[in-house]
Amino acid sequence: MLKNKHIIVGVTGGIAAYKIPMLVREFRKAGAGVKVVMSEAAKEFVSPLTLSTLSNNDVIIGTFPGTRSNVLDAKTWHINLGQWGDVMVIAPATANVLAKLAHGYSDDAVSTLALALRCPLLLSPSMDVDMWEHPATQENVTRLREMGCIVLPPEGGELASGLVGAGRLPEIAEILRSVERVLDSARLDLKGRNILVTAGPTYEPIDPVRFIGNRSSGKMGFALANASAQRGASVTLVTGRVHLPTPKHVKRIDVETAEQMYRAVMRQQKKADAIIMSAAVADFTPVTTSVKKIKKFQADGRAMSIELKKTRDVLQELGAKNSRSVLVGFALETDHGVENATRKLKEKKLDLIVLNNPREEGAGFDVDTNVVTIISKNGRVEKLKKMPKYDAAQEILNRVARLMK
Ligand code: CTP
Repeated sequence: MLKNKHIIVGVTGGIAAYKIPMLVREFRKAGAGVKVVMSEAAKEFVSPLTLSTLSNNDVIIGTFPGTRSNVLDAKTWHINLGQWGDVMVIAPATANVLAKLAHGYSDDAVSTLALALRCPLLLSPSMDVDMWEHPATQENVTRLREMGCIVLPPEGGELASGLVGAGRLPEIAEILRSVERVLDSARLDLKGRNILVTAGPTYEPIDPVRFIGNRSSGKMGFALANASAQRGASVTLVTGRVHLPTPKHVKRIDVETAEQMYRAVMRQQKKADAIIMSAAVADFTPVTTSVKKIKKFQADGRAMSIELKKTRDVLQELGAKNSRSVLVGFALETDHGVENATRKLKEKKLDLIVLNNPREEGAGFDVDTNVVTIISKNGRVEKLKKMPKYDAAQEILNRVARLMK
């Protein structure tokens, strides 16, 4: 798997940097070409000469010529290297580099290269437990995941400080396996395919101020769009209102209401090889939307009611058209999940339905993990373990890829 691959190893200044020569050696033993980029602080923990000798390449340390041990190209080394790599792994990734990457800083060689990177970026954070658990670090990790980075969580155990908790760099073999997994999922098996993904909630306006909405965060749909693009597909993402950055190389169409989502999907569906409806489309919308803000005194007595009508079911219509696209639906069920989801799969003539239960630990709205059951039209029911939404997206795409063949 690693043979002839181009691996960039970014090293930042944490004590676990002393283990990185072993990682470089393993990559080389597996037949990969390795180039190392390190921060000034990393030099305090591991020698550039060791990394240069083991990688059989010059090590890049500073951003500008003269501070680097050698020069790839005086002006554009970061662009060249950004295009050379098949994968970049930053290990150890300190709290500082996570903060910089989460906010787009480029004030040293590692962060500058990370911004210019064309290939997937795997981060292996390692630091003291309090730094890892600090809300700022956790927020940065979430943001980096949302931007499409893959984060290998640190392991628990005794730390260099003597404290016990999460913060240890995983075993070298584990980092190696993660790099293999990332390369495997970035294998461009969806190149030439058009994938349409929907995400997020729809908002159905009551008046200029109020709406009926739902708690969907859009994270699952964005993970699907991101993973599809990383696997080489041309991706269109139709999304309701969410607070998420657009994944790289994804065409995003913003909508607000179920009707707008219906129209956007219908416009895009013809060229789609697969349509994955992970959006939480409202089933009902107000019959009329008041142009003016509804005032309290307009309510007759103490009760107030809003008349609702059914929205158009996008998936149902796609299924009824016998669309040539692979159709994937989502079902959110708290009870009789498999039974209800299977009924929806049949009624809407889907190829796959992804069932999840918001009441299950590690699943549901606004969390970064999911516990999904994938049901196929041939009746196969696969319950997957709890995993990051990005990994669940890859699992769903593995099945979609097989159906598109
Ligand atoms: N869906 C759609 N158009 C709608 C409503 C839902 O395409 N107007 C899609 C969703 O994106 C999702 C699936 O259909 O993929 C969900 O099916 P649905 O029957 O709407 O599920 P629920 O809304 O959960 O239905 P119920 O409340 O009956 O459980």
